[in-house]
Amino acid sequence: MCGIVAYIGKQEAFPIILKGLKRLEYRGYDSSGIAVQKDGELNIFKKQGKVAELEAYVADKDTSGTIGIGHTRWATHGEPNDVNAHPHGSGNEKFALVHNGIIENYAILKEELITRGHTFKSDTDTEVLMHLIEEIKSQQDCSLFRAVRLALNEVHGAYAIVVISKDNPDELIAARKSSPLVIGIGKNEYFCASDATPIVEFTKNVVYLEDGEIASLSLKDGLKLKTIENQEKTPYIQELEMKLEALEKGGYEHFMLKEIYEQPRSIQDCMRGRLSLSENMVSLGGILNYKDKLVNAKRIIVVACGTSWHAGIVGEYLIEELARIPVEVEYASEFRYRNPVIDENDVVIAISQSGETADTLAAIELAKSRGATIVGICNVVGSSISRATHCGSYTHAGPEIGVASTKAFTAQVTVLSLMALMLGREKGTISDERFSRLLIDLDNIPHKVESVLKTDAQIQHIAEIYKDSPNALYLGRGINFPVALEGALKLKEISYIHAEGYPAAEMKHGPIALIDEEMPTFVIATQDASYEKVVSNIQEVKARKGKVIAIVTKGDKDVKGIADHVIEIPKTDDMFVPLIATIPLQLLSYHIAVMRGCNVDQPRNLSKHVTVE
Ligand code: G6P
Repeated sequence: MCGIVAYIGKQEAFPIILKGLKRLEYRGYDSSGIAVQKDGELNIFKKQGKVAELEAYVADKDTSGTIGIGHTRWATHGEPNDVNAHPHGSGNEKFALVHNGIIENYAILKEELITRGHTFKSDTDTEVLMHLIEEIKSQQDCSLFRAVRLALNEVHGAYAIVVISKDNPDELIAARKSSPLVIGIGKNEYFCASDATPIVEFTKNVVYLEDGEIASLSLKDGLKLKTIENQEKTPYIQELEMKLEALEKGGYEHFMLKEIYEQPRSIQDCMRGRLSLSENMVSLGGILNYKDKLVNAKRIIVVACGTSWHAGIVGEYLIEELARIPVEVEYASEFRYRNPVIDENDVVIAISQSGETADTLAAIELAKSRGATIVGICNVVGSSISRATHCGSYTHAGPEIGVASTKAFTAQVTVLSLMALMLGREKGTISDERFSRLLIDLDNIPHKVESVLKTDAQIQHIAEIYKDSPNALYLGRGINFPVALEGALKLKEISYIHAEGYPAAEMKHGPIALIDEEMPTFVIATQDASYEKVVSNIQEVKARKGKVIAIVTKGDKDVKGIADHVIEIPKTDDMFVPLIATIPLQLLSYHIAVMRGCNVDQPRNLSKHVTVE
């Protein structure tokens, strides 16, 4: 959710933090703020709206100083406005704090602090934490580091925080629990951020804070780590593999469009070193040590949220068809709040682009506590989920900045395809002939995605026709049902058109009532096992004068005869159709959103990293 950037060094802090906040804006973008310390003064600048508003606001102000903290917010407690924006100052105006997460017991703490004379300006839980730190510091007359540590022992909930002091120009204090925080180590300077994207252009050396750790970043004393229980820790410095170009738009108008167009390469990158046609094999190195667990699993449970949950449903069809292991796909948020029947014979696959989604992380911890083996499918290397799992496979899609997930989805489906093939091969549930054929087909997917991207002009034309529809329906059957769900999600996320994804046959049990002359229905009608059934569903829509836009296999004649528009995609095995049928739906949503004047990369109310429950 919210993004944090902090700097201490010899350079001007404000421009570094501002640029970092722009890189992190996909995490939250309803307000932002920066505090800088200079000559015993602590100046806090805050503004509702995007980081650009903050930039405009400070244009005529003195923002100089070489130590500072910044924040871009996704509101939880208190509406987005200047006052609720972070950083939050202490009552005595000596300290300021930025925070990502939720302090669950803030109301009780606030009451206590009020009885001790504290007054609050904002509605946030964060300001309460700031005052608690201040209270402990003055009561105990201790260092700020100790006061922060003790305060964190009193709060419940999730946090990544950075604290700055007016009186100490040589220390930033950072801590985390359930919300990520990365420290970048430069030459005579330190950076701190919610993820590595603001840091990568300055240094490749990073330390990922672990849960319950608190750090002091000082030019004089270096980087010191402790647990919040006061145990010394040794920082583990890692090298970042991220490339700066991956964080730029590279000539595209939006990150989302760039990421859609990156898919031939990201799918290829995901398969690299894992699929070999010459050796006729698939190998996922990250799960080899747990391969037997997977092969012998009585059941696989997939936990995920949002788009990753849709990838999980595609995975269900793939694994059940190719490896004959029963699969259940669960919303992580539902799974964790019931009492799921799960034990050491179960394997849980947790899918997450960011690797930070709070509900998915909590679902993992629950399943782990019951003895299940946890396999991760994550995009962000070193993320909390990738570290919480027993084993896993990275998707290698590269940083995804657009809030609506595109290349991460196809990369997740690629990993699941590889996994299903590997398991099917091991279990002997696929014939040698089918295995080899599927390998060739999967290897060809990047070229096929490339060719689908060439239909962009036609998709723009269709977008122009349906851009003003208030509703849209997406239909698919079998493995293409989750493609329909994902198509609908993309449209509603970025264009704010109400859209529903449905299994095509279910349409007659409800959504058919919505169909009229205006309503577009997008149907995945490729030539697979359920083709004829889908054609009948299209007839049902047409009989009610609905508009049908169908994704069909190249050369299709039947659907062409009845649909209003068809988008042709190349033939591939039924199992891999989702990898290519998704592409036109992504493009369609993108163009409709642009035509409606929506902010494609930062749709309203959404965040890319959902680190609160
Ligand atoms: C948010 C994002 C979605 C994403 C979902 C799950 O809602 O906006 O794009 O699919 O979280 O995130 P994850 O990082 O766990 O895949």
